Amino acid sequence: MGIKETSSGGSGLKRQLIEGSHRQQKPSFHFSFKVLLLLCIVVIILCCILSSSSRPWWESFPLQEHYEKFFNQPNQDNLTLRFWAYPTHRVKTNEILQIKESPTERPTRPTVPPTVPPTVPPTVPPTGIQYHQAYARNYHFIMDNEEVCKTTKPFLVLMVPVAPHDVAARDAIRQTWGKDRKVQGEVVFTLFMLGYSGRADAGQVQEKVKQENLQHHDLIQSDFMDTYLNLTIKTMVIMEWLATRCPTAAYGMKVDSDMFLNIDNLVIMLQKPGIPKKEYLTGMLMWNRPVLRSKNSKWYVPVEMYPRNTYPTYTLGMGYIFSNDLPGKFVEVSKSIKPFNIEDAYIGMCMEKLGLAPTSPPNPSQFKAYITKYNRCEFSKVITYILGSAEELVKYWTDLKKPGQPC
Ligand SMILES: *[C@@H]1O[C@H](CO)[C@@H](O)[C@H](O)[C@H]1NC(C)=O
Repeated sequence: MGIKETSSGGSGLKRQLIEGSHRQQKPSFHFSFKVLLLLCIVVIILCCILSSSSRPWWESFPLQEHYEKFFNQPNQDNLTLRFWAYPTHRVKTNEILQIKESPTERPTRPTVPPTVPPTVPPTVPPTGIQYHQAYARNYHFIMDNEEVCKTTKPFLVLMVPVAPHDVAARDAIRQTWGKDRKVQGEVVFTLFMLGYSGRADAGQVQEKVKQENLQHHDLIQSDFMDTYLNLTIKTMVIMEWLATRCPTAAYGMKVDSDMFLNIDNLVIMLQKPGIPKKEYLTGMLMWNRPVLRSKNSKWYVPVEMYPRNTYPTYTLGMGYIFSNDLPGKFVEVSKSIKPFNIEDAYIGMCMEKLGLAPTSPPNPSQFKAYITKYNRCEFSKVITYILGSAEELVKYWTDLKKPGQPC
């Protein structure tokens, strides 16, 4: 639009000058008139050059280029974030190679004048209805084992999100860190959180799940579809269960099913005198993590779902621990937080909205993510590690618990 206006203005000026030249007849003005005409022609040419350019004028300044570079700066953190942000699904070497090959991590930003801030939410603030999905009270428990916390007051409840068909993972946990009801003198429960199976054999899976619960009484199931993109719902339903079915527990932990958990070290950590009993969330802290905008990414989040460029401080989803006053607050505040599919960052959002922040654990080096090699001494000191399989968990656990000093 600006271009058209400028060029029509230019021809208008030209026309006026030509008309004027016919009226100038006196010879005494001849020389100065020629100079004036020459000057005008130069001005007209300059006008034409500027107006015919397809770029707005500010773009001819080097400053604009500087800002553009700043806006589109490729983020070096992306690779590491992909590797660290979502441990539930391990990033394999070929995936990392794919990541390296993908050309752009952020959408190419439309050219804007430097004064416009780089993040303008494209959508209007959504109304209540759009927040609907992650709100735990939209779903209903099919199995809730509500008697679990009625007879005993647990110190710590481990809540493990797991796929309905993944009996192997549950059995490995039942034999290892989920086995003991008493740890370091404290009552500890392990429960598994399931949605509805979305698989072709869902009916059969559901039947097995019911049988499994009759045997172990440790399954919590809710009526949402158990899929990867629904993990935030799963986490919020865990919070709902803790708040309504187990309010007497002192602490809760969301821990993934593919984890090694040194439960003794965790209870020892929580027994430390300085550990808060309220408004406490800890684990492996993530600061200023960029939101991944590449559609190829497993952790892709569209701008419409989450407009900011970075997440608030959160604890990595592999395993985070919280005082049991928080679950009810998370459920309540989640009513007004737009859902997105990164469950651990979503909890970070809930914390931020509550005016709270996660706390670093007393010894942050106890929260480890990926292992290169099993080491008995090392495993006796940590709290978490991400493992590759249920077999690995049983193998390492057995080795760790064998007689003899680990170090
Ligand atoms: C999430 O769960 C809801 C409720 O069961 C379901 O309607 C929806 O399709 C699920 N979403 C995905 C992405 O699986």
